Parts: sequence; C-alpha cells; structure tokens
Amino acid sequence: MVSTCALALLISITLPGAASYPSGPPLSSCTDMFPVGHGSNAQNANGSQPPFSITVNSTVYHANDVIQVNLSSTQPWFFEGVFIQARSANCSNPMKDSPIGTFRTIVGEKLLSPINCLEKASSAIAHNQELNLTNIMFYWIAPSGSVGDVYLRGTFARNKALFWTNVFSGYIADASLTNLTKERCTPPAMTSQKTGNGNTLVISLSAIFLSLLFSFL
Ligand SMILES: *[C@@H]1O[C@H](CO)[C@@H](O)[C@H](O)[C@H]1NC(C)=O
Ligand SMILES: *[C@@H]1O[C@H](CO)[C@@H](O)[C@H](O)[C@H]1NC(C)=O
Ligand SMILES: *[C@@H]1O[C@H](CO)[C@@H](O)[C@H](O)[C@H]1NC(C)=O
Ligand SMILES: *[C@@H]1O[C@H](CO)[C@@H](O)[C@H](O)[C@H]1NC(C)=O
Ligand SMILES: *[C@@H]1O[C@H](CO)[C@@H](O)[C@H](O)[C@H]1NC(C)=O
Ligand SMILES: *[C@@H]1O[C@H](CO)[C@@H](O)[C@H](O)[C@H]1NC(C)=O
Repeated sequence: MVSTCALALLISITLPGAASYPSGPPLSSCTDMFPVGHGSNAQNANGSQPPFSITVNSTVYHANDVIQVNLSSTQPWFFEGVFIQARSANCSNPMKDSPIGTFRTIVGEKLLSPINCLEKASSAIAHNQELNLTNIMFYWIAPSGSVGDVYLRGTFARNKALFWTNVFSGYIADASLTNLTKERCTPPAMTSQKTGNGNTLVISLSAIFLSLLFSFL
C-alpha cells in the first residue's frame, strides 16, 4: 500500500497537468488549428463572434508577392496566443488542409516566430511566448506558382479558457486565374475539446495506478 501511494505521489509530481502552449502551438495542431490542452471549447461554439481580425493589404497575389498582414483586436482585449496559416479557398482541392506560402516576421520581431507545419518551412506563424497584444504585423509570401485563391485562417486565444478558431482574412485571389470558387474549407463549428498527449498519459497512468490500488484491496 505504501509503495502504491508512493507511486501515486510520484505520478502526480512528475506529470504536468493539461498544459496549454505559451511558447507556441504543437505541430500536432497544424492541420485542424485547434488548441491543444486548453480544456475548453472554442468560443465560436456558442455563437460568439471572434473579437479579433486578420487584415491583408491586398485582395490579389502574384507569384512570390509579399503581403502585409495585421492581427487586431476588435475589442479592448489582448490576445495571448495566435496561430495563422494560409489555406486554399477551393474546398475540392485535395491540399485544402495544408498550409500555403510562407510567413516572415518584421525586422526585430521577438514575439512571433514562423513554424514549419507539415514539414513546410515557415508555413505558419505563431506566438513564441505569452503575448499581451491588441495588434501586430507580419508578412505572408505567396508561393512561386499558381495555387488558386487563398485566405488566411487563424486561431486566437484571449487566454487559456477563451479562444476562437476559424478567424478568417478576406480572400486573396490568384492573379493568374479567374472565376475561382471562393470557399472557406473549415468545419462550421468547433465544439469538441482537444486534449494533448499529456492528458492521455495522465489518464493511462491513472488507470495503471487504480488497477494497482485495487489489486492491493
Ligand atoms: C458564450 O459566449 C459569451 C460571449 O458572447 C461568453 O461570455 C460566455 O462565457 C460563453 N459561454 C461559454 C459556455 O463558453
Ligand atoms: C497594419 O497596421 C499598420 C499600423 O497600424 C498600418 O499602417 C497598415 O496599413 C496596416 N495594414 C493592414 C494590411 O491592415
Ligand atoms: C503590401 O505590403 C507589402 C509589404 O510591405 C508591400 O511590398 C506591397 O507592395 C503591399 N501591397 C499593396 C497592394 O499595397
Ligand atoms: C478545385 O480543385 C479541384 C481539384 O483539384 C479542381 O478540379 C477544380 O478545378 C478546382 N476549382 C477551381 C475553381 O479552381
Ligand atoms: C498585460 O496586460 C495587463 C493588463 O493591462 C497588465 O497588467 C500586465 O502587466 C501585462 N503583462 C505583460 C507581460 O505585459
Ligand atoms: C466566369 O464567370 C462569368 C460570370 O459568371 C461567366 O460569364 C464566364 O463564362 C465565366 N468564365 C469561365 C472561364 O468560367
């Protein structure tokens, strides 16, 4: 019994609980862009409009164009975390869940870093520490070839419990093409909570602990 209690103590000391990611989102969230370890639903789930916006300085792109992007709060609220990618506006595109183009920070940027999502260099951008921001600027660089119309998709966390998924910029049309279908290829509502591997580990170790405990009783 003593050893079981010691084991329980050891587990509770050595395993962190459900952690969010103050130093940037894990690569496991690159596809669905849903926060890991926040332990709550997206605020969109109850119909709350995102109080944050993504604006771009162009509605059209040519190969390798540099497009300025601003993230802004539409309320007097800070955002602590952000995660941004460009996505295809053609939902029949088999690559619709993959990031497009690359991101670059402004000179001297300390708060945001590009991330290599799906093994594509700088294909996303996110906080690298806990932010306290109402606006910030960076650049999206269009791909060197024609990939159709795109839009920027973001996830904004006001804090650990309050976050919004599916925050969109306007469409950025591919200048080399016409008559494209402008679609946002995302689930309409993100209501399910997503837990990280840390939680799974806690749950499975708790199960081992409980079975050990019962074997002693
Ligand atoms: C629903 O959204 C409102 C903001 O419109 C927020 O104050 C409230 O906490 C949210 N409720 C839940 C359960 O997320
Ligand atoms: C971004 O913000 C800067 C500074 O406020 C402003 O000069 C610029 O026009 C904005 N650009 C976009 C694309 O919103
Ligand atoms: C958008 O901003 C980028 C970077 O500052 C600049 O190079 C580009 O010319 C701007 N595009 C437009 C349409 O103003
Ligand atoms: C969308 O993608 C599909 C599959 O690649 C393609 O057949 C179709 O032509 C695209 N539609 C537009 C409007 O580009
Ligand atoms: C963030 O903003 C709050 C509210 O203004 C302030 O109390 C806090 O010190 C700020 N934190 C940082 C790290 O800037
Ligand atoms: C583009 O759209 C216009 C207006 O809907 C239509 O008349 C034209 O045929 C379309 N062109 C192509 C190549 O689909």
